[in-house]
Parts: sequence; C-alpha cells; structure tokens
Amino acid sequence: MLENQIKNAIRDIPDFPKPGIIFKDITPILKDQKLCTDIVDALVKQTQDLDFDAIAGIESRGFLFGLMLANKLNKPFIPIRKAGKLPFKTIQQFYDLEYGTATIEIHEDAFEKGAKILIHDDLLATGGTVVATSQLIEKMEGKIAGYSFLISLDFLNGNERLEKYSENNLSLAR
Ligand code: PRP
Ligand code: MG
Repeated sequence: MLENQIKNAIRDIPDFPKPGIIFKDITPILKDQKLCTDIVDALVKQTQDLDFDAIAGIESRGFLFGLMLANKLNKPFIPIRKAGKLPFKTIQQFYDLEYGTATIEIHEDAFEKGAKILIHDDLLATGGTVVATSQLIEKMEGKIAGYSFLISLDFLNGNERLEKYSENNLSLAR
C-alpha cells in the first residue's frame, strides 16, 4: 500500500539539523523511480477534483513533487522561496520553524487577486511553514483552495492550524 511504502522509504535522522530534532529524510523516495511515479499519480487523484488555479510549492522539498503535480494537472506552478532567492519584487512572511525562524517570499505578480491556490509541501510537521505560506497568499488576496502533502505528522497537530484556511487538507500518508 502506498502509504506504507512512503512511510518505509522516509528515513529518520536523529539530531539533525539540531539536537533533539528527528529529521525526516525523503531522499530514499527520490531514488525509487516507481515510487515517485506512484506518488505523483496518487497526488493527482487526490487533488484533481479540487477547484484551484495554481499550485504553490514551498522551497525546497515542496518543489520536488509540486512541479510534477502542477504539470500533470496542467496548472501553473508558483515557487515560494526562502528570503533572498527570488529575483523580482517580493512579498515576505516571517515564521517560526521547529528548529529556528525563517522568512519566505513570493513574487508579487505570482497570481491575480482572487486566484485559488493549492499549497503543496512534502511534509506537514508543526504547520509553521504552510501557515506562513497561507498568510502570504492571503496578503496577496489569493484564496487557499487546499493543502497537499506527501506525509502529515499528525501527532504535532499541524492539521488543526490549517482548519481556518481550508477544509481541504490532503495527505498520502499520516
Ligand atoms: C521542512 C519540510 C516542510 C517543513 C515542515 O522544510 O520540507 O517544508 O519543514 O515543518 P513545519 O510544518 O514544522 O513548518 P525545511 O524548512 O526543513 O526546508 P527544506 O524543505 O528546504 O528541506
Ligand atoms: Mg520544506
């Protein structure tokens, strides 16, 4: 079953990048071409009936499957990047990470006002990253069409923080 394949392929790295953090390493998934194909197919199935105009993927691991998904669904892909990486005019959002603080940015012309945006990332942990992305999209007067993850770590309760933005919270594994 795909959920178990995803869980088995994700490698736990204790104390990375800081003591006390267990890093979820998805690189073994990327080495498995068949699993990658199955993941993209499953992401397509989960999201294809949602009403949205574009997919926003979050640097860096949200780029890996986010662009493949957008391409399969014939939708534009919008990169959400860490500060200082996007070359055009940007809008910023600060946020707390499980292991520190960060700033993300989006190009100010990434989408039209009122556009419905599906947010994709590899992993939902505390939810800090996707909450910040949601705030960024709302600052630009976009609407959150839903969330798409490879895996959600439900014990960290990130899901609860997303309820106020969208009822569509999809994940291939929990
Ligand atoms: C990881 C992961 C998610 C985020 C989840 O990204 O890829 O984006 O953390 O954590 P949260 O729900 O607690 O915010 P990270 O910031 O490590 O960067 P990366 O994607 O560039 O590896
Ligand atoms: Mg990430």
